[in-house]
Amino acid sequence: MRLPEARIIAVILTLTTAAICSMPTAAETQEKAATTSRPADGGDRPYRIGADGKVDWAVFNGFRRYNSICNTCHGPDGAGSSFAPALVDSLKRLSYDQFLEIVVNGKEEVNTAAEKKMPMFGTNPNVMCYIDDIYAYLKARSDGALGRGRPPKHEDKPAEAAEAEKSCMGG
Ligand code: HEC
Repeated sequence: MRLPEARIIAVILTLTTAAICSMPTAAETQEKAATTSRPADGGDRPYRIGADGKVDWAVFNGFRRYNSICNTCHGPDGAGSSFAPALVDSLKRLSYDQFLEIVVNGKEEVNTAAEKKMPMFGTNPNVMCYIDDIYAYLKARSDGALGRGRPPKHEDKPAEAAEAEKSCMGG
C-alpha cells in the first residue's frame, strides 16, 4: 500500500501546489486521497469482469457511487447530458492522473452561451474515498467491457476495501 499512496500524494502535490499554500483543507485532501489505492498498472485495466458478467467489488462500488453523485450532471452510466460531458468518452482521452486532477480541483469552461462548472471534490470523502472505484467503473464502461445499468453480479466486498474505507472515512 505504501508505494501507490506515495504516488497519489505526488500527483496531488504536483497538481495543486498553488492551492495547497492557501487552503487549509488541502492537507485533508491529500490525506483522503492518499488512503485510496491507485490502480496497480497505472490505470489501463483497473477492473475485472468475468465471462458471466460478474464484476469485481471496485466496479460495483464505483457504479453505486457514480450513480449517486456524478450522474446528476454527467447522466446515468457515464452517458453524458446536455450539461456535462459523457465520461465514457472522456476516459478514452484522459489519463488516470488527468481524471484525478479534474475531480480534485474541478474544471470550469466559461463561454458566452453558458457557464458550465465541474465542482471540486478534493475535500469530499464521499467522492475521494471511492475515486479509484469510480474510475474503475467508468474505465470499464469506456472500454466497452461493461454495459449500461446495474451490473448483474458482483464479487463480495474484500476485507482490504472495508479497511481502506474505514480509515479513509475517518472511522
Ligand atoms: C454539478 C454538476 C457536476 C457534477 C455533480 C459532476 N460533474 Fe464532472 N463536470 C461537470 C461539467 C459541467 C464538466 C465540464 C467542465 C468543462 O469542460 O470545463 C465536467 C467535467 C468533468 C471531467 C472532465 C471531462 C472531460 O472530457 O474533460 C471529469 C473527468 C469529471 N467531470 C468527472 C466527474 C466525476 C467523477 C464526478 C462525480 C464524482 C463528477 N464529475 C460530478 C459537472 C459536474
